[in-house]
Amino acid sequence: MCGIVGYVGAEDCAPFLIAGLKRLEYRGYDSAGVALVGESGLEVLRSRGKLSNLESLVLRKAPKGTLGIGHTRWATHGRPSDENAHPHSFRGVAVVHNGIIENHLELREELRRAGHTFASETDTEIFAHLIAEEVEGGHDLLQATRRALRRVRGTYALAVVSETDPHTLVAAKNASPLVVGFGQGENYLASDVPALLDRTREVMFLEEGDLVRLRQDSVELFDGDGQTIARQPRHIDWTPVMAEKGGHKHFMHKEIHEQARALVDTIRSRTALETGDVVLDGVGIDEALAKSLARVTIVACGTSYHAGLVGKHYLESLAKLPVEIDVASEFRYRDPLVPPGSLCIAISQSGETADTLAAMREAKAKGARTLAVCNVVGSAIARDAEDVLYTHAGPEIGVASTKAFTTQLAAMLLLALKLGRLRGTLDADRAGKLLQDLRGAPALIEKILAREDSILAAARTYSSARDMLFLGRGLQAPVALEGALKLKEISYVHAEGYPAGEMKHGPIALIDEQVPVVVIATRDPGRGHGQDTYEKIVGNIEEVRARGGKIIALVTDGDDLVSRLADHALWVPPASAFIAPLLNVLPLQLFAYHVADHRGTDVDQPRNLAKSVTVE
Ligand code: F6R
Repeated sequence: MCGIVGYVGAEDCAPFLIAGLKRLEYRGYDSAGVALVGESGLEVLRSRGKLSNLESLVLRKAPKGTLGIGHTRWATHGRPSDENAHPHSFRGVAVVHNGIIENHLELREELRRAGHTFASETDTEIFAHLIAEEVEGGHDLLQATRRALRRVRGTYALAVVSETDPHTLVAAKNASPLVVGFGQGENYLASDVPALLDRTREVMFLEEGDLVRLRQDSVELFDGDGQTIARQPRHIDWTPVMAEKGGHKHFMHKEIHEQARALVDTIRSRTALETGDVVLDGVGIDEALAKSLARVTIVACGTSYHAGLVGKHYLESLAKLPVEIDVASEFRYRDPLVPPGSLCIAISQSGETADTLAAMREAKAKGARTLAVCNVVGSAIARDAEDVLYTHAGPEIGVASTKAFTTQLAAMLLLALKLGRLRGTLDADRAGKLLQDLRGAPALIEKILAREDSILAAARTYSSARDMLFLGRGLQAPVALEGALKLKEISYVHAEGYPAGEMKHGPIALIDEQVPVVVIATRDPGRGHGQDTYEKIVGNIEEVRARGGKIIALVTDGDDLVSRLADHALWVPPASAFIAPLLNVLPLQLFAYHVADHRGTDVDQPRNLAKSVTVE
C-alpha cells in the first residue's frame, strides 16, 4: 500500500505520474513504478528504493503514453524489491493497488492450477491475472474489473489500464482512499489529494464499493452492480500542506482516524470465524513447536511495550504460557535467563529500534526462537526474526504512535488465539467468539471517533493542568500507561499511568484539586474472564473524589454509576474485556491530541523525539 496516481488525456503522461508520486513521497515508500499505455502497447517500469531511481529509468527508457498509472509501494505482502513493486501486469493489463486481499493465496492457487505463473510475492498481482482473463473473455475493462472484484475479498484502492483500451482508466475503492481529479480534456486519479493539486481543485472522493471509468472527456461512476451513480465533484481549497494530511490538521489526527481501516487490514485475512482458526502468514510455529514452548519473553519500547503488556494478558489467558515482559533496554543488560523452550517476541512499529533489536538478538543468542510483531516489511527486526507477524497499520508519520498500537494489540490477540488453539488450551467455540468480537472492533472504533466532540470538550477543560494521573486495572492498566505516555509526549503535560491498585502505595499523595485523574472504568457486559475489577475501580474513583481530585472517566454506555461519580464522562460502547483495550485507547489518544493542539505544541514532531530510535 501507499501512493497511487493515474492519468488519461492527451499529453505524454510520464512526467505527470512522476511529479504526482513525488508529491506523495512524504508518506514513505520502498519502491515505485509506472505503467503507460501508448501506441506501442503497455510499458511498465519499476524500481526499488528512491523515486529518483525510477525517474532515471523513465528518462532513459522514455516511455510514451497518454494513459498511465503510477505507484509508490510500502510493502505488505512480499519484501521490497523490483519484482514486488507495482504496477503488476499480465497479458497487457496493469494494476496498482493499495490494501490487502484476504483470499489471495486461494486465488493464486486456483490460477496456478489453470496454468498461470506469477512474477511477484504480492497479493496485488492476482488482480492483473483475474482482470486479464476477463478481458480475454471479451469483457470491456470496466466489466472485467467488476467481474474480477467479485472474486476478491479484502480492502483495495485499485487502478487498472489495459492495452486493449488505450483511452480508459478504471478504478475501484473499498476501504482504502481514492480520489478523482477533473481536468480540461484530461482526468486524473490519486490515492491522496496532494498528487493532484497543481492540476485541479475539482475532485470527487470515491466511496465504498464505487467503480469509476475515466476517459479524456468523461468520468463515469458506478456501483458494484453496474448502476450509474450521480455525484457532483467538489471544490477544495486545501493548501498542499493540508492536502498531505488529508484535510486533518495533523498526521496524528489523521492516523487516529485511520484505525478502523488499519484493524480491518490486520485482522481480516487471518481469521476464520467458523472454525476459530487463525492463519498467520509468516509465522511458522506448528502444533509440536507450540506445545513445546515453556515461556514467552516480550521485549519492546515505549508504546510497543504497552502493547506487549496487553499481549502478556492475552497469551497467559488464552495460550496458558507464562510470559515475562521487559523494556528492551533493560533486558539486554541484565543477563536474562532464557530457558529451553523460550519464545522471544519483539514488538516494534518501525522494526528499527536499536534496543529492541539488540534485546531480541540477546534472546536468540541464548537459544530462544524469535518472533517479530512489526509494521515495516523488511525492517531490521523483521529480517532478523525467525517468524514475523506484520501489523498492517500502513505508514505512521506522526511521531506519537497511534494506529500502530491498536494493530499491535490485534496482532497479539491473533497470536494468543493461534497458540491457544495449537496448544489445546482454547476450544474452537471460545476462539470463534473472540474472533467475532475482534472483527466487530473496527465498527466500534468508528462509533468512538464519532464522539470526538465530547472528548475535545474534556481536553479543553483540562488543558491547563500541570500534572495528570491515568489509572486502569487488569487489561486496562497498560492502556492507562499508554494514555499517560501519549499526553506527556505531545502536550508536555506531566502525566503518569498506574495500575489503579497501586494508588494507595504512593501516587495518592499527589491528588488534589489541581490534578485531574483519568480513570478507565469501562465494564465488560459479559463480566470478562473472571477478573472483573469494575467494583474495585469504582472504589479507586471514590478515593480520588474524597481528596478533591477531578475525575475524567471512560464509561461504558449506559453505566449511570460511574458517570455520576465522574466530573467528565467519556463514553465507550460495550465490549468484551479482551477487545476493550483496542477501544479504550482511542478516547485517550484523542484527549492527548486535543490537549496538545489546544496548548499549541508541535503535535506531529514533539520536541526531543524521533520516530525511529536507531541508537541506544
Ligand atoms: C510513543 C512512541 C514511542 C515508540 C518507541 C518504540 O508514541 O512512538 O514510544 O513506541 O520508540 O518504537 P518502535 O515501535 O518503532 O520500536
